[in-house]
Amino acid sequence: MDGSERPVNHHGDHPGFSGLTGQLCAVAFLLTGRETGRLAADLTAVSATDHVLDIGCGPGNACRIAAARGARVTGVDPSAAMLRVARIVTRGASVTWVKGGAEALPVPDAGATVAWALATVHHWPDVDAGLAEIHRALGPGARFLAVERQTEPDATGISSHGWTGAQAETFAAMCESAGLTTVRVGSGRAGKRRVWTVHATRP
Ligand SMILES: C[S@@+](CC[C@H](N)C(=O)[O-])C[C@H]1O[C@@H](n2cnc3c(N)ncnc32)[C@H](O)[C@@H]1O
Repeated sequence: MDGSERPVNHHGDHPGFSGLTGQLCAVAFLLTGRETGRLAADLTAVSATDHVLDIGCGPGNACRIAAARGARVTGVDPSAAMLRVARIVTRGASVTWVKGGAEALPVPDAGATVAWALATVHHWPDVDAGLAEIHRALGPGARFLAVERQTEPDATGISSHGWTGAQAETFAAMCESAGLTTVRVGSGRAGKRRVWTVHATRP
């Protein structure tokens, strides 16, 4: 990283999504998050044998897609407003919703076979702590996938919510330092949106 690069959690000081504003953001994420959820389910080949942990699940698009594929699903988010909307719009799908953050995941050790962090790592106050928790929560051989929108280094406002290629590479190095293996950075599309993907395995 040269001195000018923003950290991977460059919105880690975001105040969080609460109250009416939080619920309005949740509705917006409902509309924008479906393609990312489909991409995550495809890239991790989620099936009925999986237990998916969606960290920073927001209004739960990706959780419902995993549940529709027969997986057991736990959606974790620190925002009560996000979880409220997730519960309201989830009808017929079996998802366990839990309030919590990446840095202290409210789940048992080694229980998940897949963990996703979709458009959320850039908000985590402590990414190393989040990765240590992912390592703890995943069982041996489990898959981890982070997805972030591709952004320009000088982006501001809403369009800065994502990563440059250098930030994706920095996050991949952090995954390796956390003990995850087969870490690789990819570039893909979630609908019209270009995204970075970081895949890893829990050894
Ligand atoms: C842009 S939204 C993405 C929601 C969803 N993953 C999606 O793709 O639609 C970012 C989410 O990250 C959550 N978040 C913020 N800080 C977090 C943290 N420390 N750990 C886990 N999730 C966090 C927010 O509450 C919010 O729901």
